[in-house]
Amino acid sequence: MKIKSAWTRQIEIGQQPSSSALRDHLDAVHDNNAGFTETFAWNCRDANGKNSYELLADIIDQKNHSHVLDLGCGSGVLLDLCNKRFGAELMLLGIDMNGSELQLARERLAHTDTKFHQGTAQNLDCFVDSSFDVIFCHWALTLMDPVVEVLSTTKRLLKERGIFAAIIDGDPKTAPGYLEVHDIIYKHVQCKYPDYGVFDLGDPRVRTAEELQKLTAETFIGFDINITPITLSFNAAPSILAREAAGFFYASFVLSPNDFSHMLIDLEKYFIAKQQDGISCFKMPVNRLVVRGRGE
Ligand SMILES: C[S@@+](CC[C@H](N)C(=O)[O-])C[C@H]1O[C@@H](n2cnc3c(N)ncnc32)[C@H](O)[C@@H]1O
Repeated sequence: MKIKSAWTRQIEIGQQPSSSALRDHLDAVHDNNAGFTETFAWNCRDANGKNSYELLADIIDQKNHSHVLDLGCGSGVLLDLCNKRFGAELMLLGIDMNGSELQLARERLAHTDTKFHQGTAQNLDCFVDSSFDVIFCHWALTLMDPVVEVLSTTKRLLKERGIFAAIIDGDPKTAPGYLEVHDIIYKHVQCKYPDYGVFDLGDPRVRTAEELQKLTAETFIGFDINITPITLSFNAAPSILAREAAGFFYASFVLSPNDFSHMLIDLEKYFIAKQQDGISCFKMPVNRLVVRGRGE
């Protein structure tokens, strides 16, 4: 379904979209496609065979961590993984602004004590200071604007020796072929919205390691900050890869079903040209941000 929102209306007239227009757009996308992140993200693996949910869950140290928050938890995949690994040892909380995503997460974790809260990451006044050992944010920080408020809220909620860890978009140039797939999708989207890409979702500073480091350091004074670039790969038949890759880019959701089909044909052609023995590969660049309190 073609998504139209306050955000698309603003970029149509060449206007920098507002934060409320961004939330309106994200809500429309997620209401119509709840759970769309998980299939793709679950199947994208690093050189050791780990997906990005596992790369975050690995951070939990059972001896020292008991309270874990997932900010922008979506359909609850990361919380589910934490629950499977550590069970009742952890107090898990998922926060998301979108009701349709939370509905999926609640169903997925109905058999557990996991708690959920619907709200924006910028406004979590109902939670007390220093109450979490670990705060995760998987593929959601890139979408959050204003992001400085998210970082300061996260710092407030984190214990002195707590850890904030996020998976965020990485440098497109580091993953071979990524820019080609990106450009196929954006070429189709820009036929309808020439300024899609000039304006994009979220705060652009989060998308580069240098700016993210600076931004994080301004809020997390006295914390150790590490950003690790990682390339994730998804191997599949060209038709599957075309559909999954297209479905992971928010830009695809503004296309009509007809335009979406044309884009899929171009993507499939691209992956067919790259295939070996019927399997093609899509490489995705990410950064893993880990902010660790020294407890000073
Ligand atoms: C790409 S999805 C990722 C979902 C989940 N973390 C995963 O990776 O499976 C981004 C999620 O962030 C949520 N989100 C975006 N901006 C938010 C904000 N300002 N406050 C709370 N949730 C937000 C969206 O509703 C959506 O569920």
